[in-house]
Amino acid sequence: MDSSWYFFYVVLLIFSIVPLYRSQTDVSITEPRLTSTVAVNSTALTVNWQFANSSIDQSDLIRVYITILEYFTKYTTTVYSTNYTYTTNKTITSWTQNFPLVNAFYSVCFSTNSTITNYTYFVSTTQCQLARTCSRQNSSVCPNASAVTIISSDITSNSFLITINWYNVLPIIRNSTVVQILSENLNATFVSILTNDTYIIESYRFSNRQSLTTYAINTLISYTLLNQIKTESYVLSVTTSRSSKNFLTSDILIFGASILSIFLIKFH
Ligand SMILES: *[C@@H]1O[C@H](CO)[C@@H](O)[C@H](O)[C@H]1NC(C)=O
Ligand SMILES: *[C@@H]1O[C@H](CO)[C@@H](O)[C@H](O)[C@H]1NC(C)=O
Ligand SMILES: *[C@@H]1O[C@H](CO)[C@@H](O)[C@H](O)[C@H]1NC(C)=O
Ligand SMILES: *[C@@H]1O[C@H](CO)[C@@H](O)[C@H](O)[C@H]1NC(C)=O
Ligand SMILES: *[C@@H]1O[C@H](CO)[C@@H](O)[C@H](O)[C@H]1NC(C)=O
Ligand SMILES: *[C@@H]1O[C@H](CO)[C@@H](O)[C@H](O)[C@H]1NC(C)=O
Repeated sequence: MDSSWYFFYVVLLIFSIVPLYRSQTDVSITEPRLTSTVAVNSTALTVNWQFANSSIDQSDLIRVYITILEYFTKYTTTVYSTNYTYTTNKTITSWTQNFPLVNAFYSVCFSTNSTITNYTYFVSTTQCQLARTCSRQNSSVCPNASAVTIISSDITSNSFLITINWYNVLPIIRNSTVVQILSENLNATFVSILTNDTYIIESYRFSNRQSLTTYAINTLISYTLLNQIKTESYVLSVTTSRSSKNFLTSDILIFGASILSIFLIKFH
């Protein structure tokens, strides 16, 4: 190859790289983020969000859309929504909504679209999280918004049951449940799955455990809500009861010892 052609080729390459490089560093767009959903009382939620620092977010037109689905039954929901358009003024960063239901579940979805005027480039995201208003009896008791409650029961000296109660008001698809004692790499045995008006009840049993021992039970659940896969981990501590076998063994020992002492007395 002629050296001048080679030079031309290199120059062409550099020029074809430079505009691409410039457009990526000159335009920096980052979306605002949903920071929290807070239960105000038994009937209201406040959604809070945060804008990225302008040193990393150069967008000058930001749209925020908030949609809240209220779960009345698994099949009926009410939708509440609002939207905001920001140019330079970004003072509004929260929204409080009051609802007719008390201590209910909600899906809060926060969507954004950030652009720079005269650019075709935009960054668009959606984040959803589960929320729940506070208790009916006491508005300052606000339970965690969790799709499940996990409890232990039927505790004996060597076995116990772990029950995962899924709130069936939520339109979720259960993907998987794993109940295990992590320290022993031991999975529980599936027992049953039942449904009542409030829950889908999944039960698992651990057997052949030791008496008077505390086990850390790890429950890993995965489910789909609004097309988003959620994976959550819960740790529950269970202590097995005193073994009645221990009493039996010591009783036999005492019994044996007294027979032995009777023999000893007789032979003396
Ligand atoms: C809950 O808080 C909301 C928003 O502050 C308010 O409008 C509503 O009246 C309150 N409800 C109760 C039951 O306190
Ligand atoms: C934004 O970033 C700049 C530069 O990193 C920093 O000096 C400034 O304190 C930041 N502002 C906020 C509100 O975090
Ligand atoms: C930004 O908007 C808020 C609410 O609309 C308003 O109270 C405030 O004065 C505005 N700030 C500026 C600097 O325009
Ligand atoms: C985001 O905004 C841009 C510019 O207004 C528009 O072209 C684009 O369709 C929007 N994208 C979404 C996902 O809303
Ligand atoms: C509500 O719960 C709070 C916190 O647990 C407690 O301090 C308060 O006494 C309760 N109020 C009533 C009326 O039960
Ligand atoms: C459903 O089952 C749970 C767990 O066994 C129980 O606590 C609850 O009272 C039951 N609810 C109804 C409405 O039957």
